[in-house]
Amino acid sequence: MAGTRWLRIPTERLLAARVRHELESLPAPAHLGLIMDGNRRWAHSVGVDDVRFGHRAGAEHLDRVLTWSAQAGVDAVSVYVLSADNITKRDDEQVSFLFHLLETLIPDRIRRPGGFWELHIAGNLDLVPDTTARALKEAVAVTRGRPRRLTLAVGYDPYGDVVDAVRQVLWEAADRGDSVDDVVRTLEPEAIDAYVAAPDNDIDLIIRTSGERRLSGYFPWRSVRAELIFCDVYWPAFRELDLLRALRTYGRRRANLR
Ligand code: IPE
Ligand code: IPE
Ligand code: MG
Repeated sequence: MAGTRWLRIPTERLLAARVRHELESLPAPAHLGLIMDGNRRWAHSVGVDDVRFGHRAGAEHLDRVLTWSAQAGVDAVSVYVLSADNITKRDDEQVSFLFHLLETLIPDRIRRPGGFWELHIAGNLDLVPDTTARALKEAVAVTRGRPRRLTLAVGYDPYGDVVDAVRQVLWEAADRGDSVDDVVRTLEPEAIDAYVAAPDNDIDLIIRTSGERRLSGYFPWRSVRAELIFCDVYWPAFRELDLLRALRTYGRRRANLR
C-alpha cells in the first residue's frame, strides 16, 4: 500500500528511541555473539532464487549491525560467519562465493579508515583459499589497536577449537618436561582457556537470527554462561530495533538475576 513505508520508518525510529531510553537503566552485554543465519531463505523470501544474492545482502548487513552494536555501547562482538561444516558440506559454487565475500566486501568494510573494530579471526584458515586468508590477515593487521574487538568465526570447528587448545597445553607441558601424571593432576580450565581461539572472554548474549533454535557449534567454550535470544527474522532483515529489543531482553533477564 502506498505510504506504508513512509509510516513504518518514523514508527521504528520512535520505538527504537524508547527502547534506547529503557536500556539506560539496564545491564548491557560487554560481549555480544551473533549467529548470522537465514541469508538463503531471505533471498527466496524476496523472490530471488540465486543464493548469492542473499549472501551478499548478509555480508553488507553485517556492517550495519556492527555500527548499531557500537552505537549501543557494545565493546566486543563475535560473529559466526562461516563454519568448517559450511565449507565442507555446501556446494562449491556457493562456497566460492562466500570466500569471495570474505576476501573483498567483508574485510574492505571492516578496515575502512575511521573504523572502530579491531579484527580477530577464529577458525581454520587452512580451509579457505590463500587469497582469502591473506585478505583477512591484512585486515587484522590494519585494524590492530582499534578500540572495539570484533571476532569473525571463519572455517570454525568447535571440536577442533577445544581439541587444539588442549593440544597446546600438552605441548607446553612436554616442553617443560612434565610427566603425564603431572599434567593430569594440575590441569585447570584456565590452562585450556588461554588457548581456545578468540574471542578472549565469555560471551554474555548470543543472538541467532532466522528462527532456528540451536547454536550450530558457535564458540562452545565461551558460551557457557551466555543468554540466548532467537530472533525470527532472517539476517539481512534484522533491524536496529530487533537488536535493541534483544539488548533489552538481555538487560531485563540479567536485572532479574541480581
Ligand atoms: C547464513 O545463511 C550464512 C552461512 C551459514 C554461510 P544460510 O546460508 O545458512 O541461509 P539459510 O539459513 O539456509 O537461509
Ligand atoms: C550456522 O549456520 C553457521 C553460520 C551462521 C555461519 P548454518 O545455517 O550453517 O547452521 P545449520 O546447518 O542450520 O545448523
Ligand atoms: Mg542457515
